[in-house]
Amino acid sequence: MSKFWSPFVKQLVPYVPGEQPKLANLVKLNTNENPYGPSPKAIEAMRAELNDDLRLYPDPNSDRLKQAVADFYGISASQVFVGNGSDEVLAHAFHGLFQHGRPLLFPDVSYSFYPVYCGLYGIPFEAIALDEQFQIRPEDYLRPNGGIVFPNPNAPTGCLLALEAIERLLQQNPDSVVLVDEAYIDFGGESAVALVERYPNLLVTQTLSKSRSLAGLRVGLAVGHPDLIEALERIKNSFNSYPLDRAAIAGASAAFADRDYFHKTCAQVISSREAVVASLEQLGFEVLPSAANFVFARHPQHDASALAAALRERSVIVRHFNKPRIEQFLRISIGSPEQNKALLDALGAIL
Ligand SMILES: Cc1ncc(COP(=O)(O)O)c(C=O)c1O
Repeated sequence: MSKFWSPFVKQLVPYVPGEQPKLANLVKLNTNENPYGPSPKAIEAMRAELNDDLRLYPDPNSDRLKQAVADFYGISASQVFVGNGSDEVLAHAFHGLFQHGRPLLFPDVSYSFYPVYCGLYGIPFEAIALDEQFQIRPEDYLRPNGGIVFPNPNAPTGCLLALEAIERLLQQNPDSVVLVDEAYIDFGGESAVALVERYPNLLVTQTLSKSRSLAGLRVGLAVGHPDLIEALERIKNSFNSYPLDRAAIAGASAAFADRDYFHKTCAQVISSREAVVASLEQLGFEVLPSAANFVFARHPQHDASALAAALRERSVIVRHFNKPRIEQFLRISIGSPEQNKALLDALGAIL
């Protein structure tokens, strides 16, 4: 705290990201990164950008990347927005589409950045309880609201909401924007991008940090009706005209174009997830059904924070949230086969 801080800064409660430890040789399964590297074509495209042209500003509209996303989904580039990580895209959506005085609705167990953006932009919110199985019930969102946001699959549970349930939410709330945060959709879900043509109140956000393994590059996107996209552009152009640099535009565009590598690595993560779930269940864990690149698991006989600490002593890092309803769960990212084996060996020894 400093006397130079504004009253606004004093009352902010910032988000705390998962630890990025500086130690070598850790089995790092705490921030849902992809164990496989990005597409070699993306790396090549970024290398090609590292030349004298860096003296020039990048394309402020990232048209090449918008077109690559549009080609991938068979939509128009006017339905695509891109930003510096989906966190930035989400922030602009909160600012531009949810600031209405009525409460924003999101699940009680969900991405912990949502309440932080509400604090930053002065948006009232109501956290709606997931059911006993940690699932979203669309009928619970039938109440006055200034918008709805949830991750699909949800984070940190990994549970998926079917597209027909999302359609029900969209139909029940024609006067609100429904934002589906698809950070993890490529690991087993069907994207709501398929609904964008029919629902002008739907905004879908995605990231290249997970399924395209570019967390270090910081690229995210939104797909929606051009009117919603225009709101995001207005915010972006009132904040930072060049959120994506030349390397990011080139690398992200090449990653979207390399479908074979994308499908192959997603399939590897999904198959590892099924193997990890089976092994965790053999060790006595209850594992929520996951459509993501992580699992959410609890052990009926072992305290989750003690398990996380014991894993850490064995150089394996997973995420534990000290929060109501989920304090007995561990969120474990799916790693490479070697990392997953190290996790399971460590758990076997601890238990
Ligand atoms: C649900 C959810 N949404 C959005 C993000 C942000 O992703 P990024 O800013 O890396 O694109 C994350 C990151 O972990 C996430 O879990």
